[in-house]
Parts: sequence; structure tokens; C-alpha cells
Amino acid sequence: MTSRPLPGTDSALRKIPVTDFGAMKRRGEKIVVVTAYDAPSGRLADAAGVECVLVGDSAAMTVLGHDSTLPVTVDEMLLLTRAVARATKRAVVVTDMPFGSFQVSDEATVEHAVRLIKEGGADAVKIEGAGAMLARVEALARAGIPVMGHVGLTPQSATTLGGYKAQGRTALTARQVYDDALALERAGCFAVVLEAIPAPVAARVTARLAIPTIGIGAGGACDGQVLVWHDLLGLSPGHVPRFVKQYARLADAIGLALEAYAAEVRTAAFPEDRHTYAMPAEELDRFERDLDR
Ligand code: KIV
Repeated sequence: MTSRPLPGTDSALRKIPVTDFGAMKRRGEKIVVVTAYDAPSGRLADAAGVECVLVGDSAAMTVLGHDSTLPVTVDEMLLLTRAVARATKRAVVVTDMPFGSFQVSDEATVEHAVRLIKEGGADAVKIEGAGAMLARVEALARAGIPVMGHVGLTPQSATTLGGYKAQGRTALTARQVYDDALALERAGCFAVVLEAIPAPVAARVTARLAIPTIGIGAGGACDGQVLVWHDLLGLSPGHVPRFVKQYARLADAIGLALEAYAAEVRTAAFPEDRHTYAMPAEELDRFERDLDR
């Protein structure tokens, strides 16, 4: 069973409400999420029929060239979110609250989230962590802002977690992830990302929660899956994490295209006549005579 709309039908044009995700879980339909960081990626993801695009703070690394997700700012996330939201007609647009935008106080958290929704055009925000962040989720929910939670490997806390490592691999830490996910549901999240945790742990969390789980490196029992745009399309340089499946190798294709372009420019094989604009012969003649005068 799939919720993917038939092209050209009304449901293909209708904006998906975040509340649909709970209904999809109850119907046993998987929720497809992919990150997007600009208008072209938002448009392509939307046209492919994904239910949700996530303007992840992974943008810090994938498109802004940082070594971690920490440096990206609210203003930068706003710029990227606006571009994605403009191009995304049907899919739910969730945007990440960047590091520093929700740590300080409930008030600052709500203010930043309001900007991401109001100025950025996002439908919902995502916030990493549980524990002390539960109060933030409650504050956002009270303000009427849909919130997606995120537990397991939370990249903004990679230093505290000992690096980009799978989490919940002992009985004790698995229980912590389980309890955190439950607490996020109670705090008001409409869905929760489970990142890099053992599949059986994710399966138990998924079975226990009424809200959907969106897995990344958390196995097939999750209610949905998310992958980073650059990973899925083979655009990320270097090491490919275990949980990534590359559905294309666009970096190779782009490299070949750029090399071919460079070679044709150097040999003057490009542009050809068909790539240039003509002008009426008499106008050209007049132009030439004018220059020669
Ligand atoms: O920032 C991001 O892209 C994310 C996903 C990996 C879940 O948080």
C-alpha cells in the first residue's frame, strides 16, 4: 500500500498535513523523508512524491562546507528553508532548529521556531535530544508549533556522545533511548527521528509509540526512513556510512559532465551554432558598417 499520489490528481497537489503521518502509521504505510537544502532539491523531492522534506542542519556539512553541524545559524537555516519551502508544494517541510537556537530558554526556542515557520515557510521544526530539551518541546507544542523529535545519535551532541557513533548498543543505553522517545511523545512531538540505533531497539520503540518513528540507521521496522540528499544520490565525498544506500552516483556523473564541458571549451567544440543567437543579416551588416566607420 502506498500513499504516493497519482500525477495530476488532486491528492498530488494537496499539501500534506503533519497529522497525516499518525494516520499513515496506523494504516501501516511507510513515510518517506529526504533532506533538501535548496529549491531544486525541494522541487525534485516533492515531484518524486516523498511525504516530507527535512531541511536538516546537516546543511552545515553538505552545502556550507563545515566539519560539523554546530556552526549553522538560524539565519542560514532560514535562507535554506525559504528556498525549499518555495519549491515544495505537497510534502511537509520540517526544518532543523540549529545548535544554539533552543538551548538557552523556552522563550528563545519559541522565538526561533516562529521565525523558521513564519519567515522560513516551514510546516514544522525538528529539535535534537530529550532530557533537558523536553521542556522546549512542551513550550513549542504549547505555542502550536509541530515538533519532530530526534534521539539516538544526535549530531549536535556528537562530542558528548563520543563521536558519530551508533547509540543504544547496551541494555542500559537502549533503555535510555526508549525512555527518551516515549518522553518526546508525551511532550508533544508528532514524530521522532531514531538515528543510528540497533534495529531491535528501534522496533520496540516503534511498537510502543503512537506517533511515527523515522529511522536513519535504525532498521526497517521504523514507520518511515530519512536519508541525507547527498548520501542517497552519491554526492558526498569520502566514507559512506553503513546505513546509507546510494541510489545514484551523481558525483561521478557530474565529474564526467564537467570534464567534458572543460574539454569542449578548450577545443572550441562548445558552443556550436545551435547554442548561439542569430540576428537579421541587415542588422548585422549595419552594425559592422557602423563599427568600420
Ligand atoms: O540534519 C539532518 O540531516 C538530520 C537527519 C540526518 C535526520 O537530522
